[in-house]
Amino acid sequence: MEKQGLQVAIDGPASAGKSTVAKIVAQRFHYIYCDTGAMYRAITWKVLQAGVGLTDEAAVKALLDQITIRFEPGTPEQKVFVDDTEVTLAIRQPDVTNSVSAVSALPAVRAELTERQRQIADAGGIVMDGRDIGSTVLPHAQVKIFLVASVDERAQRRLKDNAAKGIDTPLATLKHEIEERDRKDSTRKVSPLTQAADAIRLDTTSMSIEQVADKIAEIIQKKES
Ligand code: DC
Repeated sequence: MEKQGLQVAIDGPASAGKSTVAKIVAQRFHYIYCDTGAMYRAITWKVLQAGVGLTDEAAVKALLDQITIRFEPGTPEQKVFVDDTEVTLAIRQPDVTNSVSAVSALPAVRAELTERQRQIADAGGIVMDGRDIGSTVLPHAQVKIFLVASVDERAQRRLKDNAAKGIDTPLATLKHEIEERDRKDSTRKVSPLTQAADAIRLDTTSMSIEQVADKIAEIIQKKES
């Protein structure tokens, strides 16, 4: 019988390199890649569009129940759709980035997106990145990685990413935003950013993307054999 493929959870703080590395690893193993941060960003985008209060849990949940969030293959990155509207770039804009922590702290939103993420991961052969994948969404994932890097390094990386997308935010602002998001993501009541007890911690501050991807690939190969 053909192997189903593993569930690989990659968690860590903002701009630790999760999505870049997760994409490379998924490609190498022919696994599906699921960016759960994009799902939180997509509902946040919808909330801003609809003019609903960021902390109005009932209204936000009602909105979430009405929309589909889906991914389509694309280069250089997967395309993200809310219903039939492409939001790939819109969800990376500062208005969404600065509102997503509030929306992702709502328990009803987390419960619904966790359910959708479990369905996506159900068949295995998946690399899923986020904040709570190893700890909450996929507690039985065979591979759990927790990526960390210094705030300075993460701000530099976001500066580069942003430049490629035509977003112009000063480095000091990015540093401040990352620190704020770390604080909010780590201190929220439901599923805060936390390393699962059985996750492998990798500090990527002085590692290249390829080195991190190689290390994770090695870990997956060991589990597969
Ligand atoms: O990875 P990112 O920066 O695109 O994530 C956007 C936000 O979504 C982040 O500030 C926290 C939230 N998030 C979350 O709460 N749980 C996840 N599994 C993924 C992201």
